[in-house]
Amino acid sequence: DSHVPHTFVIFGASGDLAKKKIYPTLWWLYRDNLLPKSTKFCGYARSKLTIEELRAKCHQYMKVQPDEQAKYEEFWQNHDYAAGSYDQRSDFVALKERLSSLESCNCSCNRIFYLALPPSVFERVTVNIKDICLAERGWNRVIIEKPFGRDDVTSKKLSDHLASLFHEDQLYRIDHYLGKEMVQNLMTIRFANKILNSTWNRENIASVLITFKEPFGTQGRGGYFDEFGIIRDVMQNHLLQILSLVAMEKPTSCQPDDIRDEKVKVLKSIPALTLDDMVLGQYVGNPNGVGEQREGYLDDPTVSNDSNTPTYAQGVLRINNERWDGVPFILRCGKALDERKAVVRIQYRDVPGDIFEGNSKRNELVIRVQPGEALYFKMMTKSPGITFDIEETELDLTYEHRYKNSYLPDAYERLILDVFCGSQMHFVRSDELSEAWRIFTPVLNEIENNKVKPIPYVFGSRGPKEADQKTSENNFKYYGSY
Ligand code: BG6
Repeated sequence: DSHVPHTFVIFGASGDLAKKKIYPTLWWLYRDNLLPKSTKFCGYARSKLTIEELRAKCHQYMKVQPDEQAKYEEFWQNHDYAAGSYDQRSDFVALKERLSSLESCNCSCNRIFYLALPPSVFERVTVNIKDICLAERGWNRVIIEKPFGRDDVTSKKLSDHLASLFHEDQLYRIDHYLGKEMVQNLMTIRFANKILNSTWNRENIASVLITFKEPFGTQGRGGYFDEFGIIRDVMQNHLLQILSLVAMEKPTSCQPDDIRDEKVKVLKSIPALTLDDMVLGQYVGNPNGVGEQREGYLDDPTVSNDSNTPTYAQGVLRINNERWDGVPFILRCGKALDERKAVVRIQYRDVPGDIFEGNSKRNELVIRVQPGEALYFKMMTKSPGITFDIEETELDLTYEHRYKNSYLPDAYERLILDVFCGSQMHFVRSDELSEAWRIFTPVLNEIENNKVKPIPYVFGSRGPKEADQKTSENNFKYYGSY
């Protein structure tokens, strides 16, 4: 399609996501000549803004190098911006005219609509896009961001609404974890390596721990966060996506729908979580915190004083199939913890018939998603030298060392480019989403109906110790602290 004109329309163009992620991503793709020639961009939001003002809002996130100035000017020359409401049809008619004049051609043209919008205006906007703004000669694709509802009922309502307007192959539901290098690598690691592939089962693997940690709290997003909580914000989407890629059977091919079929299948084998499977936490202020101010979750003025919303959660999932029966998959995520980290740990079983007097530790394959992409395998070796002691060491594939000169694009760069190319491989299909909600809705309801109190943990700590305890009970051995 590289010679067909494309128009990229951003709803919510004056918002946070647009300035921090969408505009910078579009610029990097433009800068690297990865977008189709003659791509135009049009922002839309309620606030009145000139292109200059929009540009100034985004500037600090664009990372423009001195030698890119000319290209950067050229990039902004292809932009337009329209202010309008999200419900008035007349505003969408004006937008439509704007788009036609921006495209200034009578040939076929493709349009991408990016909805960086709060859920409250979502339905109206999609109806108006469908009725008024679609390209008549060319394809139309719609990118949407979570929250995709807040439980099985609301999510189904949203899916039905979207299905009444668009075909599934026009809908690109973003889970940006699917755009990360090491998440995309999971399929290769598993299915292109005989040695891993043949040990990837309950006979060899004791447990799997998937961890997401952030060292900061709500950071001004308390209003949104308090309504959703960490389970909906991170666990139900990002961590469950990683789990499906770790646990699914081998797809028939690398075609997007073959992969997504397998993800749905493995999700269907997971029973809904119960409260017994969970540990919930909420951070409290750290009075002795040094440097940055460390307020507790309830100190955030946009959070209600008696909120029980968890900012930390750990859940133990079971997969009821022949490969994984009895292997705990532990999902753990939290804000305001001791570090920023997203890691998958595949812990192997103990070696049967030990001859090393219990000094052997379990093998572990570690996939570090961030920071610093890495894949390493923990194994036992003889301590070098005259002794016959044994020790644990690592076969280490740290990207920074092995792939010094590779540019690893940001998740959004890959995903937005995929939309231009029409590849849905790294996007969430509606049946996947409904399985994810089936697994999480009962426990979310239970937590909310019974006003379950989360365990307090100090900002900057490892989170509630009950979580580590539960992890040990689920066949994950700690050797030091992760
Ligand atoms: C988002 C969540 O989806 O992912 C945020 O809404 C979270 O709460 C973010 O901070 C983490 O993304 P990343 O790419 O920084 O790990």
